[in-house]
Amino acid sequence: ITKIGVLTSGGDAPGMNSAVRAVVRSAFYYKLEVFGIYRGYEGLIQDDIKKLNSRDIAYILERGGTFLKSARSDEFRTPEGRKIAYENLKKHGIDALVVIGGDGSLTGAHLFYKEFGVPAIGLPGTIDNDLAGTDFTIGFDTACNTAIQAIDKIRDTATSHDRLFFVEVMGRDAGFIAINAGIGSAAAATLIPEKKMPIETLIERLKVREKAKKQANVVIVAEGGKSGGALEISQKVKKFLPNYDIKVTILGHLQRGGSPTSFDRLLSSKLGVAAVEGLLHGKYDVMAGLINNKVVYTPIKRAIVDDKDVDEEDFRVAKILST
Ligand code: F6P
Repeated sequence: ITKIGVLTSGGDAPGMNSAVRAVVRSAFYYKLEVFGIYRGYEGLIQDDIKKLNSRDIAYILERGGTFLKSARSDEFRTPEGRKIAYENLKKHGIDALVVIGGDGSLTGAHLFYKEFGVPAIGLPGTIDNDLAGTDFTIGFDTACNTAIQAIDKIRDTATSHDRLFFVEVMGRDAGFIAINAGIGSAAAATLIPEKKMPIETLIERLKVREKAKKQANVVIVAEGGKSGGALEISQKVKKFLPNYDIKVTILGHLQRGGSPTSFDRLLSSKLGVAAVEGLLHGKYDVMAGLINNKVVYTPIKRAIVDDKDVDEEDFRVAKILST
């Protein structure tokens, strides 16, 4: 391997820049050339590819988003699209790929390896934390911190007005951000897709809190729950809690931005180095992750398919602390 291509794909995540920087720096350390592929697989198909030098990665570690830009490519899902992408890789002489993204992006890397034999390695870049083979994904810690800071502010105004707030957080169909934010912001309840809480239980809990004159009443709702998002849940409980003035806040994409936390900087830096070293040691079609603070390479197929559940202990703690 002499020339590596690196791309970020899918939803951006804080720490992606720092992961790219680590890939580029370690590639230079091992005397390899690096090509930046802009706008993920879309850029690979459109030949939006540029050789990177050390100036390109100066002052990016601390920046949110991804300077390589990101996209969700429909064309890459087709065999024809992947063929064009492969031809572009060959044209630049790129002989290995580092893909930073979530499950959809890593699936692309897996297919590319399977169909064309291109040595590819994935890094878990998503705020959702929904990939097996790593304790934490790049961007998750920052997203949780952002969510908690926002919820703290909501709690101030909720308490001042004795209002009940339903705050919706991201996570697609996983409740990692929600459970973390729920514990970290002393939520009255946390609703996650993995554990269905009957609406009656939620109403009961809120009534008990009302009786006990609990001041801060913020309920965290993970997007992607079967009973609906924050808006729907709030409408369902409204008629059973007539004394509450109910408000809804959807945190949305603000959770995806911002400067990465120290944890995300460390995680992405370690994994960026692990990606390059993994490729040099013939570790293909795998995702580099961190388990118990050790780099672990997991077959991409397992990382995207194996269920990573919200920690039972976290769920138990959230429940105890909100009653
Ligand atoms: O996967 C990251 C994520 O932010 C999810 O939490 C969310 O459901 C989704 O992406 C939103 O995607 P988009 O930015 O394409 O609307």
